[in-house]
Amino acid sequence: MMKFQGSHILSVSQFDRDAIARILDVSAQMVPYASRQKRCHVLDGAILNNLFFEPSTRTRVSFGTAFNLLGGFVRETVGEENSSLSKGESLFDTAQVISGYSDVIAMRHPKMHSVAEFAEGSSVPVINGGDGANEHPTQALLDLFTIQSEMSRFGKGLDNLDIVLMGDLKHGRTVHSLSKLLSLYKNVKVTMVSPTALQMPDSVVSTLTDAGHQVVITDQLAGNIACDVIYQTRIQQERFASRDEADLYRGHFSLNKQVYQQYCKENTVIMHPLPRDSRPEANELDTDLNDLANLAIFRQAQNGVLVRMALFALTLGVTP
Ligand code: NCD
Repeated sequence: MMKFQGSHILSVSQFDRDAIARILDVSAQMVPYASRQKRCHVLDGAILNNLFFEPSTRTRVSFGTAFNLLGGFVRETVGEENSSLSKGESLFDTAQVISGYSDVIAMRHPKMHSVAEFAEGSSVPVINGGDGANEHPTQALLDLFTIQSEMSRFGKGLDNLDIVLMGDLKHGRTVHSLSKLLSLYKNVKVTMVSPTALQMPDSVVSTLTDAGHQVVITDQLAGNIACDVIYQTRIQQERFASRDEADLYRGHFSLNKQVYQQYCKENTVIMHPLPRDSRPEANELDTDLNDLANLAIFRQAQNGVLVRMALFALTLGVTP
């Protein structure tokens, strides 16, 4: 069994099925604390340093909220321009210093593998909150928790899942991490709907195909989204050379009630890591879906608190 205490959480590749089951179980145990039915002080006096060098709402705030709910304090640095990284300090030196002020660090950075580089210099656990287009392990874990809880309503689990990933699969780190996690389950079918130029990287596709799963790669939504779960993503504008280039792909796979009713199944669950791009030219998930019971996006975001509480409890070796 994987040793959690003292470990960094940098990539989903570090987990096996048992480790994930443990994380999902501990996450479920956090419900009474997250819903304020019970109070918890196991991290009394502990300090989380949130270092977010890219925009973030859910990930940053839910990391902080999760730590507070376990009784700890949170300090935040937001934006590289507000940190000495902008004076030429290395990630290693910053890590040496900040880890001396912290019990645990959560970090987001625009460069791939930068969080792992930072972790080399850290004396405390570092949790990857997204490293460029590479990975977003905590998001993938909360996505898996959400799939498990949504599917349980239909008597299904994580095995035999029929899932569609749609949108910018090239740059979307959440779908990279989620695909790798799904490869650990049985008989998964993953349909990847994207513009040809924004297809899932081969290395991610092969983690699924090497494990014997069925992968369908297509640039057509029609006829391909009658599934258990459709996971929509945003065109990752910040990863393109220019806004104009990103605009070429915006709005190709908008999902609204009409499209949902025509092409999805009656019980298809809709997920999205959020933020959804609600500008008219994108309209990824139309607000006319908001009254649909199967729109799981806000439950998904809420689950982020549970999963991040679990990761803090496990890496810091405390139980509420
Ligand atoms: C995602 C991210 O930052 O990768 N957001 C999130 O953390 N929930 C997805 C996105 O920004 O499109």
